[in-house]
Amino acid sequence: MTTPPAPSHPRRVRVHRPGGYHRLRLEAFTAPVPGPRQIRVRTAASGVNFADALVRMGVYAPARRYVGWPITPGFEVAGTVDAVGAGLDAPDWQGRGVLALTRFDGYAEAVVVDADLARPLPAGWSTAAGAAVAVNALTARHALALADAPAGAAILVHSAAGGVGHWLVQLARAAGLAVTGTVGRAAKRDAVLAAGAEHALVRGTAEDRADTTAYRAIFDAQGPTTWRRSYRRLAPTGRLVVYGAHGLTGGGGFRVLRGGWQYLTRPRFDPLALCADNRGVLGFNLAYLFDRRAQMRAELDAVVALVEAGSVRLPPITALPLDQVAEAHRRLENGATIGKLVLTAAP
Ligand SMILES: NC(=O)c1ccc[n+]([C@@H]2O[C@H](COP(=O)([O-])OP(=O)(O)OC[C@H]3O[C@@H](n4cnc5c(N)ncnc54)[C@H](OP(=O)(O)O)[C@@H]3O)[C@@H](O)[C@H]2O)c1
Repeated sequence: MTTPPAPSHPRRVRVHRPGGYHRLRLEAFTAPVPGPRQIRVRTAASGVNFADALVRMGVYAPARRYVGWPITPGFEVAGTVDAVGAGLDAPDWQGRGVLALTRFDGYAEAVVVDADLARPLPAGWSTAAGAAVAVNALTARHALALADAPAGAAILVHSAAGGVGHWLVQLARAAGLAVTGTVGRAAKRDAVLAAGAEHALVRGTAEDRADTTAYRAIFDAQGPTTWRRSYRRLAPTGRLVVYGAHGLTGGGGFRVLRGGWQYLTRPRFDPLALCADNRGVLGFNLAYLFDRRAQMRAELDAVVALVEAGSVRLPPITALPLDQVAEAHRRLENGATIGKLVLTAAP
């Protein structure tokens, strides 16, 4: 296989200070050199995740903890290996198509990643598909593992048409769970049903309010607007799995004030009440589990195997060029997306 030349002037998205979409600046930079057991990926596609918007806004704690400012967002890429670090079998990697996880730096045309968090791009997968899977699917698998719901149990997935939502619906369905999904607008219902949910509810409508199902598990990254009710919707032994709070953010002006109010008045769960109610509340953030390399890699391989076996399907994917990164964030933060957004590098 021939190795493409390293891009002479790779570009990356840089955020020098937290703020609005205008903070996402495209800048040329010197391609980084891979260290021991690292590879450099000439990026063809970078996955867009809601956390990237939080990074830009300056409210993503792992970004402050691990990088600070300036920062390049991005947790996942697909592309071609064009440089190999010491300790790796170079012929094995050089020129190979890969998909990879990275804690930040993914919005770039060249990125160095740890080889143990990269794997070959499966045959027949586009690079857009390669950048569309890792974060969302691993999040969904972790959430489902925490919920530990038995086959046949009824579960509720909020924001079910989104990136993580797609995988929660697909993986849960493959595990024999009965899935209801919620969405923020009616136009997304069909996507949730197409992904395999039995029911799709538009949040806040009469149909949603009338739903009296006692759920074995509820997956809720909305925030305070739904956490309280999600808890009440649980059956005895039910589990509320919290992994985000996207409802707190997005937009400016009134939405910022409203988010601040919701944050201050968020529910606090009382351990004694949990006992009396026989319910559990669980939370996680994979950004803090990133160093569990073997587990991450095994999960990634497992997801690819499920796709290859036809047990689950890739999400609908929308690709935008890297220089439209601000538009990508705008769409994500306004709830306008279905499935996964990826940014494509210049050929
Ligand atoms: N804890 C972890 O390890 C982890 C890892 C990955 C992702 N996450 C979290 O999982 C959630 C989904 O991430 P994703 O990347 O897959 O995004 P996504 O679901 O593809 O997009 C976000 C969706 O959130 C909904 N939403 C509700 N209120 C919103 C608001 N005020 N502003 C913007 N969107 C709002 C919208 O869908 P509807 O209107 O249809 O609900 C929107 O489409 C996020 O909260 C993210 O932070 C957590």
